[in-house]
Amino acid sequence: MFTDWLDLMLYALQGRDDPYLDIVNKYDCDRSHGKRAPDLYKQAFTTLRYQTPRTNADLLGVIYETYGMASDAFGQYFTPHNASRMNAEIALDGLDAATVRARREQGNPVTVQDPACGSGRLLVGAAQQFPAAQYWGMDKDATCAKMTALNFQLHNVDGVVVHGDSLTLESFATWRTRRTMLGGTMVELEDAEPFADSTDSASHRNTGENNRDAAMESIDAGSDVTLRDAALTEFQ
Ligand SMILES: C[S@@+](CC[C@H](N)C(=O)[O-])C[C@H]1O[C@@H](n2cnc3c(N)ncnc32)[C@H](O)[C@@H]1O
Repeated sequence: MFTDWLDLMLYALQGRDDPYLDIVNKYDCDRSHGKRAPDLYKQAFTTLRYQTPRTNADLLGVIYETYGMASDAFGQYFTPHNASRMNAEIALDGLDAATVRARREQGNPVTVQDPACGSGRLLVGAAQQFPAAQYWGMDKDATCAKMTALNFQLHNVDGVVVHGDSLTLESFATWRTRRTMLGGTMVELEDAEPFADSTDSASHRNTGENNRDAAMESIDAGSDVTLRDAALTEFQ
């Protein structure tokens, strides 16, 4: 149910009706209006959108962990919110908002990356301090990558999220989110440069490899700041 909910939100945000309806049609819609599974998913989405700015929190990650979906085998222990913000403050110490804005205006934005992003909490914590930077998240678990993409959209973060393996640099899917005055936008990438200026969704979404390759090359080339979660730091 949780992964269906994530997919429904991702498709709804991109206006992708066909895959959205493929999921909806799996459910028995005999119940009365408002009580069908798709109605409940929609209500949950509305609540998520309403509560995210009120709490400033990664609510998807909280739900994921609370209901025991996190994988021990993948080391899925997400950094607590207060520690995420502190971690971002430490990692970004030395940056100032004016420099970050100036770099963006010069077309050379400051990039911040988390190669094992989980639900994207560290990146969102950093983006709350420096919204003008660009944020890269990668996770080898599809559900985690989708939570990060949704969190980027919900928190209006400018970035790229890759479902892929940071060690082998294999990638399977990529989402691009953009920060706008009216809230975030999102599109699943394929054939265009991840940080290209075009806002034409259709030109960014199909099923080729080029965009993923560009995303992977950029990640491989490194970033200005790489965030490390508490567990990683502790074991180094
Ligand atoms: C300890 S969690 C940290 C998540 C996040 N950085 C945080 O602090 O909340 C580690 C994450 O790394 C992901 N992961 C493990 N191996 C990976 C790999 N080879 N490539 C990408 N992600 C990986 C797991 O799925 C998990 O979500």
